Amino acid sequence: MKIILLGFMGSGKSVFGKRLAKRLNIKFFDLDKHIEQNYRMTIPSIFSTFDETVFRNIEKIELVKILKEDSFVLSCGGGTPCFNNNIDTINDYGLSIYIELDQESLVERLSKSRTKRPLITGLKQEELANKVSELLKIREKNYKQAHITVNGNDINLKDVIQQINTK
Ligand code: S3P
Repeated sequence: MKIILLGFMGSGKSVFGKRLAKRLNIKFFDLDKHIEQNYRMTIPSIFSTFDETVFRNIEKIELVKILKEDSFVLSCGGGTPCFNNNIDTINDYGLSIYIELDQESLVERLSKSRTKRPLITGLKQEELANKVSELLKIREKNYKQAHITVNGNDINLKDVIQQINTK
């Protein structure tokens, strides 16, 4: 079973992914952590030393490596399904789940964790709200191609497993 979690920054992909993998008794991968370990650089330093394009290329390479593993839950970065046809690659290999959250909830969550995220580092509250709105508009069409969509404000492990089993 290959399960890939998608969603905007701050939607809770990693926390939920760990719980889901534990319950299903399969491996858990976090794509950003995997990149940081393999390249021995943090995500912010990849963005600042190189640029976003370099990060997206690395992200594609590491995504495909993980997708070739046997059985896992993978938590992607917020932008992963939105670049380099990754959404098609993800959907070809496994079952994708979009953790959906409204703009207001995302802004509230992200206002507490800006520093690890280069796309929103240093933004004031109003700028953060504008950025989330702008990115969500662009990215939603990719997220919505996931096989399953769940509400990130009301996520229930048992319900998600039930939905996985009916696919
Ligand atoms: C990004 C989200 C981040 C990370 C990078 C870019 C994005 O992951 O991959 O900073 O483009 O939305 P999280 O969703 O885990 O914050």
